[in-house]
Amino acid sequence: MEKLVIQGRTRLHGEVTISGAKNAAVALIPATLLINGVCTLENLPNISDVQIQCEILKELGATIEWLNPNTARIDTSTVDNYKAPLDKTSKFRASYYLIGALLSRFHNVEVGLPGGCNLGARPIDQHIKGFEALGANVEVATGKVTASAENLIGAPIYMDTVSVGATINIILASVFAKGTTTIDNAAKEPHIVDVANFLNSIGADIRGAGTDIIKINGVEKLKSGSTYSVVPDQIEAGTFMLAAMATGGDIVLKNCISEHLDCLTAKIIEMGGKVDESGDEIRVYCNKRPTKANIKTAPYPGFPTDLQSQMGVVLALADGTSVISENIWESRFQYTYELIKMGAKITSQGKTAFFEGVEKLSGAPVYATDLRAGAALIIAGIAAEGTTELYNLQHIDRGYENIEEKFRKLGANIIRVRE
Ligand code: EPU
Repeated sequence: MEKLVIQGRTRLHGEVTISGAKNAAVALIPATLLINGVCTLENLPNISDVQIQCEILKELGATIEWLNPNTARIDTSTVDNYKAPLDKTSKFRASYYLIGALLSRFHNVEVGLPGGCNLGARPIDQHIKGFEALGANVEVATGKVTASAENLIGAPIYMDTVSVGATINIILASVFAKGTTTIDNAAKEPHIVDVANFLNSIGADIRGAGTDIIKINGVEKLKSGSTYSVVPDQIEAGTFMLAAMATGGDIVLKNCISEHLDCLTAKIIEMGGKVDESGDEIRVYCNKRPTKANIKTAPYPGFPTDLQSQMGVVLALADGTSVISENIWESRFQYTYELIKMGAKITSQGKTAFFEGVEKLSGAPVYATDLRAGAALIIAGIAAEGTTELYNLQHIDRGYENIEEKFRKLGANIIRVRE
């Protein structure tokens, strides 16, 4: 078993380069199935979710050549199988994109029910509703999803809830559908725009990505041979911004898009931190104890649920009592029990948690309960007095590239130990 050992009370300082976005990469890789040819993806984060997604594509028959650790040349012309390996697809959430992509390419698909972090109920009814509206027969039984369609025909689709996964999946399924598909009440996250930009760059006709209404006019085929670079990861960037806040640090983030972080920047300023933006760099610094703030998670451009736990660490140390309302995932306060072991004063009930800020946290053995909780506990360990041992690293490795290396470059005393 591996653990991170962190000696705390470090003020982070220096520069960190942000990797490509996990949640864009895990959609772009299955999107290459639509090409039935070759494309090169650059700026892919070197994380286990990307590796699994690539392994699945290879099992379907694709050839993947890594030109460097972040660039893959993917040839999907050799894919001849629409049944994704159930053992791998059930390991992570983003395997649901194989449903849309394989349905689009073969009009047939069989995929294991998606797994991923335990954040409470994670239904896919909106994905299914979209596929059915396009003319597919979808069945969910014995741990797998099967879908087939004689023809996919464009249709108006109203999403009952704003869903990142369903929006992207319906885009994937409708790229070749005859006529026009309209997704109303679509999600607007930067990774949705990234997937649309990628597909449009190779011949798709997708309009309105980044707004509530997306229109997809079906095309006959996509172009082979292009190169595309994955958008920077706004959640990784936000994680480092909040690490600067929690540790009284001064750090510069490189390779990020500051507009994607507007709501976090506003909160940081509200809490007494400073943010300077210049080109693709953001400097964040805070030389006093942050003040309390209230957070309500919401779909983009609201405060991202994927930064809620990292913000929770800052609020645990802030001056005053703060409230977080988690409106996306019902089980995203599990990390608060780990923070309490480090001396935090937090009470939670249902969707709400109250943070009575303390002056310092103390190192303790703690467990990453999900991906973002893991990142939050690293931040807590760096800010805390004494030694923190962090377990369950497989969650963190799913979504952060070289995380301890990046924190070490910022001055953190953090090592990975195999027990
Ligand atoms: N929902 C439904 N029905 C559906 C789909 C979603 O009721 O068919 C509900 C969910 O239960 C949830 C809300 O709608 O309450 C939003 O879910 P969404 O579909 O947007 O989430 P997702 O696509 O499963 C992605 C990210 C998550 C991130 C959420 C919200 C990927 C692979 N995952 O999940 O990322 O929290 O959007 O922004 O893109 C993470 O990176 O740590 C992570 C969990």
